[in-house]
Amino acid sequence: MAPDHRPLEPSPTAEEQRLEVSLRPRRFAEYVGQAAVVDKLKVYVEAARRRREALDHCLFSGPPGLGKTSLAHILAAELGVAIHVTSGPAVERKGDLAGLLTSLEARDVLFIDEIHRLPPQVEEYLYPAMEDFRLDITIDSGAAARAMKLDLQPFTLIGATTRTGLLTSPLRDRFQIQERLDYYGPADLEAILARSAGILGVRLLPDGAREIATRARGTPRIANRLLRRIRDFAEVDGEPVVSRAVASGALKRLEVDALGLDPMDRRILLTILDKFGGGPVGLDTVAMVVGEQSETVEDVYEPFLMQEGFLQRTPRGRVATAKAWRHLGLTPPPASQGALL
Ligand SMILES: Nc1ncnc2c1ncn2[C@@H]1O[C@H](COP(=O)(O)OP(=O)(O)O)[C@@H](O)[C@H]1O
Ligand SMILES: [Mg+2]
Repeated sequence: MAPDHRPLEPSPTAEEQRLEVSLRPRRFAEYVGQAAVVDKLKVYVEAARRRREALDHCLFSGPPGLGKTSLAHILAAELGVAIHVTSGPAVERKGDLAGLLTSLEARDVLFIDEIHRLPPQVEEYLYPAMEDFRLDITIDSGAAARAMKLDLQPFTLIGATTRTGLLTSPLRDRFQIQERLDYYGPADLEAILARSAGILGVRLLPDGAREIATRARGTPRIANRLLRRIRDFAEVDGEPVVSRAVASGALKRLEVDALGLDPMDRRILLTILDKFGGGPVGLDTVAMVVGEQSETVEDVYEPFLMQEGFLQRTPRGRVATAKAWRHLGLTPPPASQGALL
């Protein structure tokens, strides 16, 4: 099968992109939560600054919208260096990478989003650059071809990926710092929403923030997206403040349910429950039925459904839990696998 280069999430509109940038935390002080990760990164940044060295290469993993890109920008800001941004699928040829690497000043950050999508021939070329700040290039071709080593400035590569398991081990092993971002608890999401409301000029009451926070799939990007949509409903309905009632009324119209599941989450669970008796059923089958890429179902939807106890991965396939049956108001057939969990 040909590799699929579609992005994991639908491309954001220009307006969404602009808002996301305006809401992005710029410094450690604005970055809410992920305390264990942030504490370590602060130490590494301080140590690198004191030694006037480039920070070690960093790999950030976790589902979309948890703050990987924000962290990359924050690290560059805290280090006081420039950040150069690209993504795995955008670096198509060795020459693209050579161009990026040779333009870096000493200690700069090169951020490669979706780094697991780098073409293999480009990836290999990255190894000596990461290890020895060196590029092995070939000049001319055919009989006149000569191999040449080109020295680079010391730099920091920051890679982001949804799962470290998607990277080849030679690439993964070259990152000295590897951190996984986890879903955020309601208190952290409330703090993020309060900050966003301030930036957007939305009057968000504490109980309104709590309502959104508990229904945002543990994800800052989703919390911010819901806040913007709820603001639209509040404005059109002539509500001056976003209270719990205003938030929950809007969330209902947005088809986000009481536990924060969106229509695609429910479609995935319903497929397993309704069409396959609760499972086990293979990932590819589920993805085909709901009309999504397997990778998107696996990296965007399933981690949250598993963390919330709606779904389990077993060697024979995906199995819906008793909680899933209950949440969707269905009765498990007596003998089904799903009923046993
Ligand atoms: N820890 C955080 N504190 C405050 N806002 C955050 C945090 N993490 C993410 N966000 C918000 O969520 C948005 C998406 O985060 P981003 O860094 O782009 O996620 P990722 O790169 O992991 O998909 C940011 O623009 C920001 O508004
Ligand atoms: Mg990102």
